[in-house]
Amino acid sequence: LITFTTLLTLASAHFRLQEPYWRGDSFASNRSQWTWPCAGVSQENSTTNRTAWPLTGGTVRANVSHEWAFTYINLGLGEAVTSFNVSLVEGFNQTGAGIFCISETGREALAGLNLTDGQPASVQIIQISHSGASLYNCADIVFRTDATIAGGDTCQNSTGVGGVELASVGSETCKGGA
Ligand SMILES: *[C@@H]1O[C@H](CO)[C@@H](O)[C@H](O)[C@H]1NC(C)=O
Ligand SMILES: *[C@@H]1O[C@H](CO)[C@@H](O)[C@H](O)[C@H]1NC(C)=O
Ligand SMILES: *[C@@H]1O[C@H](CO)[C@@H](O)[C@H](O)[C@H]1NC(C)=O
Ligand SMILES: *[C@@H]1O[C@H](CO)[C@@H](O)[C@H](O)[C@H]1NC(C)=O
Ligand SMILES: *[C@@H]1O[C@H](CO)[C@@H](O)[C@H](O)[C@H]1NC(C)=O
Ligand SMILES: *[C@@H]1O[C@H](CO)[C@@H](O)[C@H](O)[C@H]1NC(C)=O
Ligand SMILES: *[C@@H]1O[C@H](CO)[C@@H](O)[C@H](O)[C@H]1NC(C)=O
Repeated sequence: LITFTTLLTLASAHFRLQEPYWRGDSFASNRSQWTWPCAGVSQENSTTNRTAWPLTGGTVRANVSHEWAFTYINLGLGEAVTSFNVSLVEGFNQTGAGIFCISETGREALAGLNLTDGQPASVQIIQISHSGASLYNCADIVFRTDATIAGGDTCQNSTGVGGVELASVGSETCKGGA
């Protein structure tokens, strides 16, 4: 029973990356979202199927299942990324379960990179649950000057889903702990 409960907890904590189109199914039995850096999904699967992103940032949409999770969205430049060393957004406390969507992810971070049309890259989304364990999903993209961002109905947070900056969370935690 304990094992079953644990499995249920683990399964319910996972998240599904919908946009950009993920590198591969991280729910597959031979993969694990607990595995750094990309849930054990190797890149071969999607090098020919990169999602086009505008040079000013693209859509990140995920179906999340935590009450809350520290969330990081990182980028690595290149064809075969080994280092996701660009933070597209500041790490934040993503709150609520359901669809979470940011329409123009990383606008400021990307501005300094001198991106050009056709630049390949990979995006990594990390969610760290209250237990401290990290979950990963990756997607491969290509920057295109003619790419469009998802807007309107296709990029909306579910009711009760949003985010809080970690900075303000931190000061609250300090006050609470004092
Ligand atoms: C893992 O499973 C996925 C999905 O079923 C499959 O596409 C992939 O080839 C498998 N990889 C290995 C190494 O077996
Ligand atoms: C390629 O990406 C599209 C979405 O952009 C998806 O619908 C399709 O299934 C993907 N194809 C493969 C082989 O992964
Ligand atoms: C999100 O995931 C939940 C749980 O798996 C599922 O019930 C729901 O239909 C999904 N929503 C969308 C829009 O994919
Ligand atoms: C990120 O990593 C790549 C490959 O290791 C390196 O070329 C690049 O300079 C790094 N960028 C930053 C901002 O550290
Ligand atoms: C993140 O936000 C949720 C909802 O407000 C809160 O319950 C949780 O304690 C926050 N996480 C941390 C570590 O402060
Ligand atoms: C971007 O281009 C500017 C002007 O050419 C240059 O000064 C800067 O070093 C470049 N930045 C990067 C990250 O390559
Ligand atoms: C969803 O919530 C996040 C965090 O509050 C926010 O950055 C994002 O802009 C929201 N998405 C939309 C489409 O409003």
